Formats: sequence, structure tokens, C-alpha cells
Amino acid sequence: MSKHLTIVDHPLVQHKLSIMRDKSTSTKSFRQLLREISLLLAYEVTRELPMTIDRIETPIEPMDAPTLDGKKLALISILRAGNGLLDGVLELIPAARVGFVGLYRDERTLQPIQYYFKVPEALEDRLVIALDPMLATGNSSVAAIDLLKEAGATNIRFMCLLAAPEGIQRMKEAHPDVPIVTAAVDQRLNEHGYIVPGVGDAGDRMFGTK
Ligand code: URA
Repeated sequence: MSKHLTIVDHPLVQHKLSIMRDKSTSTKSFRQLLREISLLLAYEVTRELPMTIDRIETPIEPMDAPTLDGKKLALISILRAGNGLLDGVLELIPAARVGFVGLYRDERTLQPIQYYFKVPEALEDRLVIALDPMLATGNSSVAAIDLLKEAGATNIRFMCLLAAPEGIQRMKEAHPDVPIVTAAVDQRLNEHGYIVPGVGDAGDRMFGTK
């Protein structure tokens, strides 16, 4: 992908996002809408996948048909909120390999702490799409991508629902080679590191925890 930041301003995405933002939206609806948006974001994040030509036969005649080239791509869910994007993307790309990076945010320092890391083999040969609905401070996203690069990934994209300008800047400085695809860029972070106006705590809202 050539652009560092892509905002998917499609009306369906924006409409669904507005419903998600509303604090009266139920856990069930929030999760369903996130899944629906993830399909639309996945469409954009995979727009420039390399293609090859395969010879096939239609019922009418042989043809040179365009198909995806290269190894199966790898979807990496940054736990736990990344799982809210994962199912939708898997629906669109069912043959993808899946990995998980477990990071939680220390509420005092806002720094990411790693507790789990399991990713598919041969990351260096795959397009790797890192999934996390919220690009807030960027601390956990940068840390997750550091880990993916240490594991061999060289072609990484980052897909999120919402981004704060602070997180985009942090990612751009740390990982200028990683394009970001998001549904919106909000105003700022508040003093607790939440995106304003945002959706609140995405993990809590999708899983019904507090
Ligand atoms: N994580 C969230 O779930 N929400 C925010 O606003 C920021 C980080």
C-alpha cells in the first residue's frame, strides 16, 4: 500500500460507527457492528494484494483468470479487542493464518505489557495484517509490531476502527513502513488515554465487561 493512512469514509462504515459510538448501543449490537465494519475495512486493507494468473476452464472456454499470489496472509489479533475484528476479516479471507499478541495496558503508565505471543510460521513470506480496534497512544500497537518484526514480518499493515492523531504520529515515527487503515480519526486522547469522542473501552463494550 502506498499511503501511510487510509480513512475508509464509506457511508456504510460511517453509519455503523456512529451507532457504535452511542453509549446506549448494546453489547450485542456493538459486537455485530464491529464485525460488519471489519469486513469493509478488510476489503480496503487487501486492495493492493499481489495477483497472478491461473489457467482455468469455465463451462464455456479456457481462460487466464486472476487469482491471489503468494503465501496465505497472516491475521494477527492484538488481544483482547483485536478479536472483535478478527471474525469479520476471517469471513472475507477464510484461508488466512491467524496469530495472537497478548498485550495489556498498564493503567498507570499506559505502557504495554506482553503476556502472550503465538504467530504463524514463515511470517517473512506473508502479508501480515495486525488487528486492533483502537489506535490510541500507539504504545501497544508499536510494541505489537516490534514483536512481529522480530518474528520476521517485513510486510505489515495495521487495521483499526478508530485512531487518535497521537497514535498515528507515534506509529508513523516508529513504523513508517506500516500502512494504517481506519474508519475514522478522532480529535485527541483524554488524560486516561481514551480516544475522544471515541467509543469508550472497546474491549468492555464488545465483551460486556467493566
Ligand atoms: N482503548 C480503548 O478501548 N478505547 C480507547 O478509547 C483507547 C484505548
